[in-house]
Amino acid sequence: MIIEAQEGKKLGMVVRGFTAGTASDDDIARLKEIVYREKILLLKGQDLSPRAFLELGRRFGRPEPYYQPMYHHPEVREVFVSSNIEEQGQQIGVPKTGKFWHSDYQFMPRPFDITLIYPQVVPSKNRGTYFINMAQAYERLSDDLQKAVEGTRARHSVRRYFKIRPSDVYRPLSEVEAEVEKETPPSTHPTVLTHRFTGERVLYVSEGFTYAVENGDGAARPDLLQDLFAATGQLDLTFEHDNIHLQTFDKGDMLIWDNQSLVHRALHTATPEPAVSHRVTVYDD
Ligand SMILES: [Fe+2]
Repeated sequence: MIIEAQEGKKLGMVVRGFTAGTASDDDIARLKEIVYREKILLLKGQDLSPRAFLELGRRFGRPEPYYQPMYHHPEVREVFVSSNIEEQGQQIGVPKTGKFWHSDYQFMPRPFDITLIYPQVVPSKNRGTYFINMAQAYERLSDDLQKAVEGTRARHSVRRYFKIRPSDVYRPLSEVEAEVEKETPPSTHPTVLTHRFTGERVLYVSEGFTYAVENGDGAARPDLLQDLFAATGQLDLTFEHDNIHLQTFDKGDMLIWDNQSLVHRALHTATPEPAVSHRVTVYDD
């Protein structure tokens, strides 16, 4: 196994010569340590069935199936499928997922620790995922903003990006909204989290899911959240902000990242090119 920094990139390590079937527990422990320290791992040359992908995920933590069945792989429910192609006239998984800044399950009481993404059908252009390391982004905040977020709590909700399901057609929007609020009520986390494994301070907000920052008396400074999004690069639609890293991938690559400290945003092709990706998310107990 050869592990090197990604050439010319702000984040991430490339791993060559990793074979899931023969990897030792020491190999996995080493990779996990690097995921938390370096944030992104790019495993080259992988060739795994959905079942084998899940089994690899299981070595990093406890896989958690997505709460909505429409995202599940038909044979392996722990595998989340993002796909814009139909198979035998049927939509498998969900198209156009994650095109907004977020951390996976940030709107839930317990967000995932590690995300593994295994692209299956890779478009020829405009492929990849943008990332921001929110531990580093916190360090780079002005003293003013660091002071303003101290001791506050942030509220997160899926409501802005909840995807209407096929079964929702002809339902009143108010009924769907009420169901979303009941099933996934907003979650609250400290605005600055302490990373469970590295001890880093992580600014835990995303433009997609976070909708309020509160202090003990209720709402914090009204423009605080927008200022945090702007300062960290989450409002930059040119994606040239110094905090933003674009992670590209080829067929056979697998991405593993630290979901506690990174926010990410999918880059989808503007042209309708086929794209399919499998995902496993785990809790590192
Ligand atoms: Fe995501």
